[in-house]
Amino acid sequence: MNTPPFHRHRRLRSNPLCLEMVADVILHRNHFIYPVFITTGKNQKNPIPSMAGIFQLSGKYLLEEIESCLKAGINKFLLFGIPSQKDPIGSDTWNSKGVIQSSLQILRKKFPEAYLISDICFCEYTDHGHCGILNKENYLENDFTLKNLALQAVSHAEAGAHLLAPSGMLDGMVSTIRAALDNKGFSELPIMSYAVKYASSFYGPFRNAAGTSLKSGDRKTHQMNPRNGFWEALSEAEEDIRQGADIIMVKPAMPNLDILSGLRGKINAPLAAYQVSGEFNMLKNAVLRNDLNEDAIVESLISIKRAGAGIIISYFSKELAVKGVI
Ligand code: PBG
Repeated sequence: MNTPPFHRHRRLRSNPLCLEMVADVILHRNHFIYPVFITTGKNQKNPIPSMAGIFQLSGKYLLEEIESCLKAGINKFLLFGIPSQKDPIGSDTWNSKGVIQSSLQILRKKFPEAYLISDICFCEYTDHGHCGILNKENYLENDFTLKNLALQAVSHAEAGAHLLAPSGMLDGMVSTIRAALDNKGFSELPIMSYAVKYASSFYGPFRNAAGTSLKSGDRKTHQMNPRNGFWEALSEAEEDIRQGADIIMVKPAMPNLDILSGLRGKINAPLAAYQVSGEFNMLKNAVLRNDLNEDAIVESLISIKRAGAGIIISYFSKELAVKGVI
């Protein structure tokens, strides 16, 4: 008998049905979350610079957006609020009539089939743009900020959020929120922690979208250094699980596929990845210029899934679902 000198990988590639059968990764709309920017004022639809097709919405435009997503099969939304007033501590985050609280109440009533996730942070609400309280040296105060984080979390829970997503990268944020929720009878409300969040330039367009540009300083004293190795990501993820996180998120997604893949083998929790505004911008603009075709977007999402993320937060969720791609 003759042993073939090489393996014919092409055998599984020549028939499209076979190709489909052996494909490991399937993108399905159930696993996608769509970020939505909610602003105040009546019926606003403000285009966001450098995020083509994405808007700050209010009133009827917000309802239209949610409705068209639901029609396309996207039913999970990550809500960001752009408040009408800011102050040094971000007190509007726990205003029961604030932009997110009032939107949650309306959306829960209008769209009982929607799953509403609220981003828990201060950067949209502070006049300096930092993710909490600053001390005299302009250093982000961890423990004072935690006290306010608990107020915000409870307020969003009371307004009807289905899942809370703390994104401020403060030490102890998950246990603080967990305890506050449990105290108020929300022990069944899950937490998706932005546990592994790098200090990334890829958030640039988001800062226009949510009005969170910094007056001074940066976020390097609390977000992770992209130069650090896997050990830090694992430590952050394990610590947040220990504190009570139900889902662990990595962000940004594509620059950190190695981290996603490493975590998938190590932690006992669902993994989410956030394909952030800068990643969206690069792909979207390349497609708009016809430099790339739309399959590049799908390929980017496949890589995120293959690396180990079960859940993907993406600004492409809606358009891909509308086109029937996911
Ligand atoms: C903080 C927050 C940010 C993003 C999500 N939540 C910005 C930041 O950390 O500076 C970025 C998302 C994106 O770039 O799409 N509330």
